[in-house]
Amino acid sequence: MKNETYKKLIVANWKMNPSSSKEAEELSGTVQREVRGLKNVEIVLCPPFPYLSVVGALAKGAQSCHWEQKGAYTGAVSPAMLKDMGCEYVIIGHSERKQYFGETDEIINKKVKAALKAGLKVVLCIGEDTRDSFDSKGHWTHELDPKLKEQIIGAFEGVKKSNIQNIVVAYEPVWAIGTGNPATPDDVLSAKIFIRKILSNLYDRKEADKVRVLYGGSTNKKNSAVFIKEGQADGLLVGGASLDSDEFVEMVKSIYENS
Ligand code: 13P
Repeated sequence: MKNETYKKLIVANWKMNPSSSKEAEELSGTVQREVRGLKNVEIVLCPPFPYLSVVGALAKGAQSCHWEQKGAYTGAVSPAMLKDMGCEYVIIGHSERKQYFGETDEIINKKVKAALKAGLKVVLCIGEDTRDSFDSKGHWTHELDPKLKEQIIGAFEGVKKSNIQNIVVAYEPVWAIGTGNPATPDDVLSAKIFIRKILSNLYDRKEADKVRVLYGGSTNKKNSAVFIKEGQADGLLVGGASLDSDEFVEMVKSIYENS
């Protein structure tokens, strides 16, 4: 696969943490100080909505958004509001949104289109639930599980070719999230090839090759470089490890040194 010239992208998904704005400020402040000068990595912190204003100079992302830009949707936050708050990215389709908030492929598609319309870049999460689609020789392959393909086709429905490079696809197998059991670099590479192949069929090869593919699921300072070097991921989507500033900074540094 031809290698990309993009900066590696490291997205920190803080989920519903930490418990106070003071801790959020300390965490983002430390990360910001420690990564200053690392020019060939792009870092995006995605705190809960109330902490968006404490993230400071690092790029900001949100963890979700609504599919309308305004209106009578109690409790919701629109892409336009996120853009106005200085967000560059929004995570859409995280498996926890599906599991706990009932998000479907159709809702995800509406959100993707609304976020792009508001001028945000999308971190689109996709991933199979289990790792049990083995072929007759006992090899596991993404081709055997229809889930990834359905998720990609569903999310990109109606997205114009000129806009697809504003979507970053995060391959986050559900079985690897928060389990301490990450995918292998081979899994990540095969997912990247598979994702690009589907996008080539939907659009064309040239545009598909511009879509960055991240890996997420039980990443830490010890394993992050291998997903970039061997798995050829264009970056990482980090959960638990992004809440520990020392660990997260080490991850960023190891990606910086290996890219
Ligand atoms: P962990 O890194 O905690 O496994 O979480 C991954 C994730 O869900 C990031 O969005």
